[in-house]
Amino acid sequence: MPLSYDLIHSSSTIPMTTMTRHETLAERADALLARMTLAQKLGQMMMPERMAATADDVRDYHIGSVLSGGGSAPGTNAVSDWVAMNDAYWAASMDEAPGRLPIPLLYAVDAIHGHANVRGATVFPHNIGLGCTRDPELVARAAGVMAREVLATGVDWTFAPTLAVAQNIHWGRTYESFSERPEVVASFAAGYVRAVQGDLGADGVIACAKHWVGDGGTTAGNDQGDTAITEAELERTHMTPYYPALDAGLLTVMASFNSWNGDKCHGHRYLLTDVLKGRLGFDGLVVSDWDGVDYLHEDYGTAISMAANAGIDVFMVSVEWKQCLALLTQQVEQGVVPMSRIDDAVRRILGVKLRFGLFEKPRPAARVWSNDPAFGGLAHREVAREAVRKSLVLLKNDQTLLPLSRAARILVAGKSAHNRGHQCGGFTVAWQGETTNEAIAGGTSVWEGIQALTPMATLDESGASADAASHDVAIVVIGETPYAEGMGDLRAGGRVQPGSQVVVKPHTLPPYGKTTELAQLHPDDLATITAIAAKGIPVVTVFIGGRPLVVNAELDASQAFVAAWLPGSEGQGVADVLLGDFPFHGTLSFAWPASAAPSYKDEAPRFPFGYGIVTG
Ligand code: BGC
Repeated sequence: MPLSYDLIHSSSTIPMTTMTRHETLAERADALLARMTLAQKLGQMMMPERMAATADDVRDYHIGSVLSGGGSAPGTNAVSDWVAMNDAYWAASMDEAPGRLPIPLLYAVDAIHGHANVRGATVFPHNIGLGCTRDPELVARAAGVMAREVLATGVDWTFAPTLAVAQNIHWGRTYESFSERPEVVASFAAGYVRAVQGDLGADGVIACAKHWVGDGGTTAGNDQGDTAITEAELERTHMTPYYPALDAGLLTVMASFNSWNGDKCHGHRYLLTDVLKGRLGFDGLVVSDWDGVDYLHEDYGTAISMAANAGIDVFMVSVEWKQCLALLTQQVEQGVVPMSRIDDAVRRILGVKLRFGLFEKPRPAARVWSNDPAFGGLAHREVAREAVRKSLVLLKNDQTLLPLSRAARILVAGKSAHNRGHQCGGFTVAWQGETTNEAIAGGTSVWEGIQALTPMATLDESGASADAASHDVAIVVIGETPYAEGMGDLRAGGRVQPGSQVVVKPHTLPPYGKTTELAQLHPDDLATITAIAAKGIPVVTVFIGGRPLVVNAELDASQAFVAAWLPGSEGQGVADVLLGDFPFHGTLSFAWPASAAPSYKDEAPRFPFGYGIVTG
């Protein structure tokens, strides 16, 4: 059970002898609540996107939190731009003009594999790779570094960890999932939350477990789809990772876009209130996902009241927050949403802010870690590099081709050999990710990593110059190109509803592809491998991608095959292992499919869950 904030005393820094009486955080929250007008309360419940809300809006509408959607960054996207932006929002929230009650604002981002929205951040492997390390201590260290980089920008809250237990690789968010097994996801949850939140002092940021609940279990792996399973199965597979996160003192939870047996989670009073806040005793706040409230009902006002009454405390409403605020006000005034529900939501919001010590923190620019020069620095990148090394899974190694000798004449080929954008995947600088080296400031591509270890390697992405007389071996780096959310779905047809994007609705986009077979999604990859192999050069294939795909042809044409997932900015970690400085350590956190049948789980996998040739 999470620690109740009634038990934490706000005045704990005052020596016992001078204290007559502790005022509990709950009492402080209640005292504030008693002084708040309806407008001030409902303002706390709004979370607009930064592009849709100015600092003046924060002051005038008493807004409680603001977020950056994927790729949304201030100024030139430098750390100092973020601090300046947060400072301006914070100052507006603390304005003491008549009619205002200063309550510090929370700023939130998707730091889900590092603070990767920010240029120059240390970008860690996406969760699927971290899952293959089976190393909760390492993952917690990575989360701690990430939190420190978040603090450097004056941001308070990250929408991480994702605790999805992806059950179908067709889902475009598979890479956000540590594993298809709940126990593996759960093994990372508590350490991650503790590393991010710290002791809720100057070293921590607020964590947010997402997406409650069943996001990884939708039929056919459709993003924002329906999870049609029994309650016992929902609990066993999808709730399991939340228990240790809650025990670790998790402060916030995000509602999920998906439905459970046809009923949308955003309007699900049983799941949000009865189970999460009731049975599991969660006393933090529940934030809605990006405009996730909108889909509850065609009448927006009704949708808003359904969400509020179901248990949503903070409304992430991107652009149309003024309309949301006006309609919520109306619903309260008409008694559709009872005042007791509003008070409960605001008490939770204030409780999170108080427990986080937000009222005691100075303005963002004056905080301990703001503009920390360690942001994107070597010490942080070393942790990411270690995570890359330990996340690699060696699937095939005929004649013990790997590790390669530094003396070997290595041809480095493939479209992702020298592409830090591809390595990082979605949710990196841009919401859908980037496709160039330039967009990812700092770090190393796989090629740059190899080059740093041996002068005997040459780069030719096309592989056209392959020649057995000059090359002893080829490393071919292939795989998926970046995507995020539903745009990464593999669906037979149709279009998908985008999530975190500032667009005018309704708006849909095409999915990534129609099949789980890489040779159909990216035929050039197989062509590069087979052309090099046909010249009698042994091929080491390195797969970059957000999920295991059917790669039978690529595997058969390669003598060695390494799954590198989406390793992030530190391609050096891949080179470290290929050239034998460190052993292969990772084991599959998802079964690897053998066929592109839609129900791939029914097939005998090409490699079972837990497989991986470990070399040390
Ligand atoms: C995603 C969330 C994310 C939010 C804010 C949504 O589209 O589903 O995971 O935290 O956007 O960017």
